[in-house]
Amino acid sequence: MTKKKPISELTEAEARAELETLAAALTKANQAYHGADAPELSDADYDALKQRNLAIESAFPALKRADSPSDQVGAPVTSGFGKITHVVPMLSLGNAFDDEEVSQFTARIRAFLSLAPDAPLAFTAEPKIDGLSLSLRYENGKLVQAATRGDGATGENVTANARTIDDIPTELTGAPDVLEVRGEVYMSHADFAALNAAQEAAGGKLFANPRNAAAGSLRQLDASITKARPLRFFAYAWGDLSAPLAETQSGAIARLGALGFQTNPLTKLCHSSRDLIAHYRDIEAQRATLGYDIDGVVYKVDALDLQARLGFRATTPRWAIAHKFPAELAWTWLEGIDIQVGRTGALSPVARLQPVTVGGVVVSNATLHNEDYITGRDSKGGEIRGGKDIRIGDWVQVYRAGDVIPKIADVDLTKRPKDAVPYVFPATCPECGSEAVREEGDAVRRCIGGLICPAQAIEKLKHFVSRKAFDIEGLGAKQIEMFYDDADLPIKQPVDIFTLAARDGGNLNRLKNRKGWGAQSAANLFAAIEERRSIGFGRLLFSLGIRHVGEVASNLLARHYGDWAAFTQAMDDAAGFEGAAWQDLLDIDGIGEVMARSLVSAFAAPRERASIDALTEHLTVEAAAQPKTEGSPVAGKTVVFTGTLEKMTRAEAKARAEALGAKVSGSVSGKTDILIAGPGAGSKAKKAADLGVKTIDEDAWLALIEGL
Ligand code: IVH
Repeated sequence: MTKKKPISELTEAEARAELETLAAALTKANQAYHGADAPELSDADYDALKQRNLAIESAFPALKRADSPSDQVGAPVTSGFGKITHVVPMLSLGNAFDDEEVSQFTARIRAFLSLAPDAPLAFTAEPKIDGLSLSLRYENGKLVQAATRGDGATGENVTANARTIDDIPTELTGAPDVLEVRGEVYMSHADFAALNAAQEAAGGKLFANPRNAAAGSLRQLDASITKARPLRFFAYAWGDLSAPLAETQSGAIARLGALGFQTNPLTKLCHSSRDLIAHYRDIEAQRATLGYDIDGVVYKVDALDLQARLGFRATTPRWAIAHKFPAELAWTWLEGIDIQVGRTGALSPVARLQPVTVGGVVVSNATLHNEDYITGRDSKGGEIRGGKDIRIGDWVQVYRAGDVIPKIADVDLTKRPKDAVPYVFPATCPECGSEAVREEGDAVRRCIGGLICPAQAIEKLKHFVSRKAFDIEGLGAKQIEMFYDDADLPIKQPVDIFTLAARDGGNLNRLKNRKGWGAQSAANLFAAIEERRSIGFGRLLFSLGIRHVGEVASNLLARHYGDWAAFTQAMDDAAGFEGAAWQDLLDIDGIGEVMARSLVSAFAAPRERASIDALTEHLTVEAAAQPKTEGSPVAGKTVVFTGTLEKMTRAEAKARAEALGAKVSGSVSGKTDILIAGPGAGSKAKKAADLGVKTIDEDAWLALIEGL
């Protein structure tokens, strides 16, 4: 590419002409990328054009074209792909780690469906492939779209790349008009070893394991690179469909096999938890010789009508579970213990290890949990590791399960150095010097410095910009550390991110002239921040990093309260931990008292509340998406179940009502719209009668929601 003039030297006419050329070049590149042809531009060249376009637009906002490439959706955006919203969300799986949890899984299903212990109930059991999931959309037998899982709701458009994978048919005969096939993209051990050898010879980047290699190969803006990589695909599920594939999971998988997809040969139909566990052992015994990585066995209810009745929790189906393989182990020396201060002030001890390979990954840090764990006690004062403490200099056992942070499991006292001394846990915060207090019943010691503790403030900010939170391109952990200490344009709390451009005078001069930044990266950052000024309610709440309030709970709360103003009002009303608003919060399924207290306290704490309110003044908070409830007579209604239900279990009734947009509460109040009372209903029915709440029986309820 020819060298471009600095943007500050462009005349208006030159800028206009260049924007026109860039729009044409980017449109052409997009067409090549999305069409059947191989892309014409490399990832880096494409990004460079896109960035140049954005930078000129930022310097000459009046010249931005109506067809500006910056605004195009569905096209690969700077340093990324076009986004695709999944018609049917791509969920993850709950986990079982031992046989007991498998028995609990089957028992839970029987209880939910109200099945007798001897009633037949079949499951499929198949390997859990350690790759990355992909959704392939076929319309009238043609592959029209391929999307990664992303956050489950929105993934990346990798259609051109998927077309290069041999296991993925581009045409199907005899398929439903609309068929989304889901499965796992993976790389075999042999292909992974050959790829790394070739990368090494070419002085390129080495991949840590086959899964990273598969992900890195699929997510290439230049599909010709993907084509050169030996990717494979197993089909194991489906999304949107115009007609059912079969009546059972096993039948549907057989149908996908007949359509030309690879399905896993170790898939087996089982009839009890004993059968499932036997097949798990069988697969475990073959694990080393399969030739590709698996990290467990997935069990799924076979009958699809039962899957539909069982439905989903927030992010996982009730009808499936992943039975994971045990962790991998290795021994090494403990060289030191560092204390990290987290966003809630928790002092977390981290083991610094002599690097060791555990299950193919080099590990040099591991968590030591808390001070009791180091001394050899659990949170109730009982012994762990036979009461052995952990000291700097010890020979320790490291274990790693999947992607979780490695842990120190054991210590070998025969190798303990003579001069090793018991570890003394600090009583003050190593970051701000404040006292570090351990409250009664809390396993963790916490710095009481709050937002005056720079470590807490920085960690809160890092969480705020993280991938599942605001996910601001170009503003990651490293940049947060830089901005936090910046004398000119500091970011000390979330709102400061959204005032950054205004503080920089809108002309980007100060940021772009400093080390590590240029006109393009500054313009990109401001554009990325602008893009996030509008944010979903659940995501915003999760981003605040309130203790105990995770992603699932944030989304539950968003769905329950609907919009941000109603939610903050409810938090104010619940501030005394009593009254209707407090009870309403506790009644939400999935919100426990500890979480509720933490949430209400955060909104009642003056400093924290001021910081939240200052932030939301600069944002548009999108109301939470409600379940699809078209035609539902109970959408938005608050219902209460009481007494014995005879046609379905309480759990199923509740899940069904929620899927139809109703709020299910545990207690009757003035806000209750319908009480569904079965035989044996007592005080709730009386209260409903006193309050004049409509009361119906189970049959009337089923008639009301029939056909939905
Ligand atoms: S079924 C509704 N089957 O595991 C859930 N998933 O931990 C549909 N995975 O996101 C998933 N092998 O990427 C299913 N045989 C298998 C699988 C499998 C691997 C992955 C998948 C999923 C993740 C959940």
